[in-house]
Amino acid sequence: MSSVYDVAVIGAGPGGYVAAIRCAQLGLKTVCIDAWTNAAGAPALGGTCLNVGCIPSKALLETSERYAKLQNGLGEHGIAVKDTSLDVGRMQARKDKIVEKSTAGVAFLFRKNKVDSKSGTGRFVRADENCVLEIVNGSEREEITARFVIIATGSVPASLPLFPVDGEHVLDNVGALGFQKPPKRLGIIGAGVIGLELGSVWHRLGSEVTLFEPHHTFLAMADSQVAAEAWKLFTKSQGLAIKLDTKPVSMQFGKSGVSVEYQDAYGAQHFECDKLLVAAGRIPNTAGINADAVGLKRDARGFIEVDDYCRTALPNVYAIGDCVRGPMLAHKASEEGLAVAERIAGQQPVVNYATIPSVIYTAPEIAWVGQTEQALKAAGTAFRKGVFWFKANSRAQALGETQGFVKVLADDQTDRILGVHMIGPQVSELLGEAVVAMEFAAAAEDLARICHAHPTLSEALHEAALAAMGRPLHQ
Ligand code: FAD
Ligand code: NAI
Repeated sequence: MSSVYDVAVIGAGPGGYVAAIRCAQLGLKTVCIDAWTNAAGAPALGGTCLNVGCIPSKALLETSERYAKLQNGLGEHGIAVKDTSLDVGRMQARKDKIVEKSTAGVAFLFRKNKVDSKSGTGRFVRADENCVLEIVNGSEREEITARFVIIATGSVPASLPLFPVDGEHVLDNVGALGFQKPPKRLGIIGAGVIGLELGSVWHRLGSEVTLFEPHHTFLAMADSQVAAEAWKLFTKSQGLAIKLDTKPVSMQFGKSGVSVEYQDAYGAQHFECDKLLVAAGRIPNTAGINADAVGLKRDARGFIEVDDYCRTALPNVYAIGDCVRGPMLAHKASEEGLAVAERIAGQQPVVNYATIPSVIYTAPEIAWVGQTEQALKAAGTAFRKGVFWFKANSRAQALGETQGFVKVLADDQTDRILGVHMIGPQVSELLGEAVVAMEFAAAAEDLARICHAHPTLSEALHEAALAAMGRPLHQ
């Protein structure tokens, strides 16, 4: 006989596992079905984020940044470091341990909150008043019934037919997180977020890194002043080779790795590398759930169509996270998961898509919330801007990390903050204040009149707000 649930969640990434926990907390009998297995073949909860995304990439970014600082960043402090060496195996073991702990943490939270956890692939059999799902795990097959279904099946790397991932020389994020030694020459197709983060990791550890980007604009989604500063720092100061306006067209395997042909403004070019990372975006993972047969609508790219409340075309089916419109970010997926759980329980939550923060964990970090300067100009919105450079911030000077700035954009009439853009030290942490301010519809003057501790990096945000009012103090 099939088990009966109030809610079945398909996928245990940061969207699905958070939704499942919240459903259970709200008294709903909940099951979460997840297909992920780790290298040892054991179920591993947490989806892309915990297994091969946010968490392992940040672990490697941390190690590689420390290593780079040891090599180049301590001289001015009067610290001489001799004989630094890197044990990549230990670095990878540390990363794997963090992943293992995080995924086990989700399993613990499921037990604590009484979420039933089922390992296997879930797909719709029927979706009417109640939904019937089939779970397949190897030769085992099980059917369950649920009043509501939340689809949280996430995304997978977009594949480029001319550059098929073989796991050996041509890799996606999974392979590039797992190198056991830095490749001598690493080519990366796509100078987006993954390309820059993983490119930074291996560049700091000694790889020659070259990124190929078809667009003319670098980091088109970021504020253009931030992108211009990032370009200068990554290419000129750090030595990442980023080739804009280039189109990789073919590849061949040679003796020492991969030989890539690409087109640029001057015509056909040739590039040799030991490993090639394909990081050209991600696509929704919705092919395997039998969506079309039960009447779920998907757009041309495979995203499940939802409204602002993550409701699909079926009244008792919701979809969240990377498999629906909006930024492919873990915290966006989790917020949608929470909101859908509460909506199923009869509450009326909303996700404020205008204040979803974005962070790129390069060094320096890039972080923003709200609208960019170029978007405001394109929309004809009258705004004021305040920029404060970290070189004039005393904490940044003490840290020896004075690159970058904070920019506050405020409505010219109302002074309401429309966007905050940062590049600089630890701005991923500074951004929280800007998000809170925007959530509370703060004016630049509100931020400017709040007392910020001295000496802190947060004073740069304070100063940028003062600058937006035309009265900066320290520059
Ligand atoms: P996922 O995390 O993809 O989880 C979906 C789960 O559903 C998976 O476990 C999958 O196996 C399972 N599944 C799929 N189909 C089925 C099925 N039919 N039956 C059962 N289970 C199924 N975002 C950030 O916010 N910050 C970061 O720093 C960050 N870093 C990243 C670094 C990398 C290298 C990558 C690749 C991504 C990164 N992201 C980051 C993006 C983030 O990982 C995703 O936005 C997030 O994981 C999406 O969550 P999700 O729950 O929608 O889907
Ligand atoms: P991305 O969208 O950030 O970058 C992909 C890049 O590849 C773009 O610059 C695009 O122009 C380029 N591209 C597209 N097609 C191409 C082609 N055919 N040939 C060459 N280049 C091509 O996607 P990315 O880096 O793969 O990451 C996927 C998503 O994962 C991100 O959009 C982001 O949502 C999420 N992510 C978030 C992180 C964070 O929050 N810090 C870190 C890593 C990933």
